[in-house]
Amino acid sequence: KPDQGHTPIIAQNLERKVNLKAQLYVKYEGPNPTGSFKDRGMTMAISKAKDEGANAVACASTGNTAASAAAYAARAGMECFVLVPQGNIALGKLAQSMMHGAQVLQIDGLFDAALTIVREITNAHPVTLVNSVNPYRIEGQKSAAFEICDALGRAPDFHVLPVGNAGNITAYWKGYSEYLSAGVIKNAPKILGFQATGASLIVNDSIVEHPETVATAIKIGNPASWKGAVAARDESGGLIEAVSDEEILNAYRLLASTEGVFCEPASAASIAGVIKLLQRNYFPENAVITCTLTGHGLKDPERAIESSDKPIRVPADME
Ligand code: F0G
Repeated sequence: KPDQGHTPIIAQNLERKVNLKAQLYVKYEGPNPTGSFKDRGMTMAISKAKDEGANAVACASTGNTAASAAAYAARAGMECFVLVPQGNIALGKLAQSMMHGAQVLQIDGLFDAALTIVREITNAHPVTLVNSVNPYRIEGQKSAAFEICDALGRAPDFHVLPVGNAGNITAYWKGYSEYLSAGVIKNAPKILGFQATGASLIVNDSIVEHPETVATAIKIGNPASWKGAVAARDESGGLIEAVSDEEILNAYRLLASTEGVFCEPASAASIAGVIKLLQRNYFPENAVITCTLTGHGLKDPERAIESSDKPIRVPADME
């Protein structure tokens, strides 16, 4: 399967480990061509840019959007400019942008500053902005909600996902809402979004000047789709809460070491959120819960190595 989307939905056996009496599935976005859910929207944004005659695209990114934009722009024969926060991007993502031939600008600042700059540049110059403020990105990304309903033969009762720039939570809600109004599903899920505690601006309803979290993908202080996230939460009757770095890393290790599913730290915020809500008996028994695992664990090998027991070095003999 050469294209993006159609990713696996995997049943989880966390019941005994975290005392979950519900059915839990993960929608694992790692198998996408560049290893994250971004490819669903990027194929749309780049195709439309090409259709409209663009020769160049640009984005701000914590890494995954940049990797995806770089790959799809390369395929389309377009120039690609990516602005990433210096020192706050996982190594695999940086490698992807560089290998796909994007012009990589590492700024001395965080994602929010990069997005402000790139918005201004793309307003003034003939370069197409491919961040999720580009509506075609959302149109592509909503396909994940369709796939989940198609696979389960129904909508989940709860859908859980990490929130960064808030494009994906907006896209999922659009997807579920469209399936609901088309009569494909009878009920839409409650949307449960999780931010990192050090970047929990939607939870606290105020911009964070200096976001802090090990989950660099969601290290964002002023998300572009803030309103979309709030609408998804309120219209679905869900919630947006925060999980600490420790909770994120515990969920990250738990999934990899007991379920065989390797996601990146930001993705594990969804599982950390489920575990947190379990502790206050949030879920009714037998509820169907889906979690999006947004990106592949290999994106961030440094964090994986830091989070694990060190390999043992031994002489090359039987003893
Ligand atoms: N998980 C991963 C792995 C991400 O890369 C992102 C966002 C998110 C979750 C959050 O999704 O922004 O739609 O709320 N990454 C963006 C980027 C910001 O530049 O790659 P969101």
